[in-house]
Amino acid sequence: MVQLNINGRSQQVDVEPDTPLLWVIREQVGLTGTKYGCGVAQCGACTVHIDGEPVRSCSMPVSAAAGKRITTIEGLSRDGSHPVQKAWAELDVPQCGYCQSGQIMAAAALLGKKPQPTDKDIDEAMTNICRCGTYQRIRAAVHIAAGTAKAGGSIIHMAADTARADDFAAHTDHATEA
Ligand code: FES
Ligand code: FES
Repeated sequence: MVQLNINGRSQQVDVEPDTPLLWVIREQVGLTGTKYGCGVAQCGACTVHIDGEPVRSCSMPVSAAAGKRITTIEGLSRDGSHPVQKAWAELDVPQCGYCQSGQIMAAAALLGKKPQPTDKDIDEAMTNICRCGTYQRIRAAVHIAAGTAKAGGSIIHMAADTARADDFAAHTDHATEA
């Protein structure tokens, strides 16, 4: 048995101590917002917070998380109201969405440490992989969440324009289908 504290709830799980934390979060606890990508600590899809630090849960044995504060995407806010989640929605950051819970958790951890990150800080901290290539929107959304988005900044405009273009395309598709 391993005693865990996940999103403020204490619970015991009956697993081997070397079971990867990601497996336990998804299979035993049933929180499937945290994703499995590579399984070898490379992609970041499985990022959760342990005592506020971003951790790649596919490569951490569950025993190492015992007694610590584990936060998953489901626990970041109750209703999507965390500033990072709001910024992500504002810019329509996700494309397929698979990597995005990990991206959001990495961004939230960065802002917890550096409330006003520079582009360099963002690029250094956000090493999660996005196969859809949403990196420009991710960086812009981190600035929005931090309140450091510059009015007239080209990246922000480009990201917002892309989001609007995607919206337009989606609506046009629906209109065409109808
Ligand atoms: S699944 Fe954990 S880093 Fe890729
Ligand atoms: S949005 Fe598709 S992998 Fe990142």
